[in-house]
Amino acid sequence: MAIRPILTLPDPRLRAVADEVIEVDQEIKTLAKDMLDTMYDAPGVGLAATQIGVMKRVVVMDLAKEGATPEPIVMVNPEILKFSEDTAVTEEGCLSIPELYYEVERPAGVTVRYTNLDGKAVTTEANDRLAVCMQHEIDHLDGVLYIDYLSRLKRDRVIKKFEKAEKIAKRAS
Ligand code: NI
Repeated sequence: MAIRPILTLPDPRLRAVADEVIEVDQEIKTLAKDMLDTMYDAPGVGLAATQIGVMKRVVVMDLAKEGATPEPIVMVNPEILKFSEDTAVTEEGCLSIPELYYEVERPAGVTVRYTNLDGKAVTTEANDRLAVCMQHEIDHLDGVLYIDYLSRLKRDRVIKKFEKAEKIAKRAS
């Protein structure tokens, strides 16, 4: 079990675009395991590799209820093929933007194609919270954060808050 540090705003790596995974080898399997350990420890329901500073297109999720049997999902090179026309407003948070939650409107359903840890291509349809989580995590791989969907005023306020906290932390160290 390896828990890796989670990057937070304003770390510039959160804005980088992750690279395609060429092969699901042992390194990717270890990365996915570490990501799940890190996510469960946080605790959170989703994590993208970029959030631990690994610029690879890998995301993990688990939306099982607390206390229920875990339902880990690992997606390598995930790609959204289709968005539903109907949208839903959901309160989102992000382990890289701790302790804040905002409502975001997104398509309510998605069709996603990805590679699983056996190296097999999978196409799946998701709705509701799972669809929101998939969009949120896949966005991370392109350097997009959920606060980018808020009004400019709200988003700038969040970014400034974290920039200020970083400055204070640096001064103290
Ligand atoms: Ni996030």
